[in-house]
Amino acid sequence: MVYLDYAATSPLLPEAIEAMHEAEQRYFANASALHTPGHLSMNKIEEARELLAQLINADSSEIIFTSGASESNNTVIRTFEGHKIITSPLEHHSIIEAARVLGGDEKPALYSYMLANNEIGEFLPIADVVKKAHKEGGFVHSDLTQVLGKLPIDVKALDLDYATFSAHKIGGPIGVGALYVKNGVPFKPLIIGGNQEKKRRGTTYNTVGIIGFGAALKYILDHKTWEIYDTKIRALRDELAECILEEIPGSSLNTDLKNSLPNILNASFEAAEGESIQLYLDAEGIVVSTGSACASGDIKPSHVLMAKTGDAEVAHSSIRFSFGLDNTEEDIDKVMAVLPGIIDRLQKISTIERKTK
Ligand SMILES: Cc1ncc(COP(=O)(O)O)c(C=O)c1O
Repeated sequence: MVYLDYAATSPLLPEAIEAMHEAEQRYFANASALHTPGHLSMNKIEEARELLAQLINADSSEIIFTSGASESNNTVIRTFEGHKIITSPLEHHSIIEAARVLGGDEKPALYSYMLANNEIGEFLPIADVVKKAHKEGGFVHSDLTQVLGKLPIDVKALDLDYATFSAHKIGGPIGVGALYVKNGVPFKPLIIGGNQEKKRRGTTYNTVGIIGFGAALKYILDHKTWEIYDTKIRALRDELAECILEEIPGSSLNTDLKNSLPNILNASFEAAEGESIQLYLDAEGIVVSTGSACASGDIKPSHVLMAKTGDAEVAHSSIRFSFGLDNTEEDIDKVMAVLPGIIDRLQKISTIERKTK
């Protein structure tokens, strides 16, 4: 199998599997308990918290573990319920929908801008947003789910008030995430009724999941993965982009290669439907996605591609190739051995007129 859907979710790192396996046997006790097994579980949770704090230049008291990036995002928006919430059009649905339901007119405002988008990889002008927001007395949240491990992160240098992370995009388990909350900024818990996470998130600690997240964080730190993404993975991504443009008539890129994460490539293929391309590639053992994973199965065109291109045909004919550390040159060869033929076949049977013929 050629797996090119890392931005949707990544396979568990062997280090995470091993750590979680050990945790299931040794760190099963309720981490809030006063007994020794409880303390041992809590120590492992604090180790993971320290690792994330170190990785993003935060204090460990500023990290809250959650069930994933969606919950982290929802928590920040809920904190600003009734307030003016300004988001970029490229945000994840867990920001956009929450802001639509919970936003109001009160001040101070919350600005939520991701540093890089999950569907096209594009960078957003976060420094400008932070400057504007803080000048107005507002607060800034950034969904850094896709950035963790791909770029070095310094929440203090970025001057963020809140930031979101997820374990399963970096080789940790699904169902664990984190929220950075700068000391002193407003905060309201989403889950009320427990003293866990210093009363900031009720419910029994997901010790095994957090330990798996910790193992993935350690991997990132030990290997400085952002350097590998910037060199090896960027080269693979750019090579695939070049091959597509050269060999496939009617292809275009939705990712600006010079202003994006190094591991995401979104491309459109005139008069070929994204879902069909995905299924044909799947039949060849090549795994990609159309739009974002969360939007798959939804027939509406991706809101990100619509915001970016304003063209439903471009959005409907798009494919996201997202790379991880395990991808190789051979994977690119395998894609290019079949993709031109698939697009040609689909374009021939399409009722949509090609514009660039
Ligand atoms: C930018 C971004 N935010 C949030 C999420 C949701 O993450 P989780 O599955 O951890 O809730 C995703 C995953 O698709 C994402 O890419």
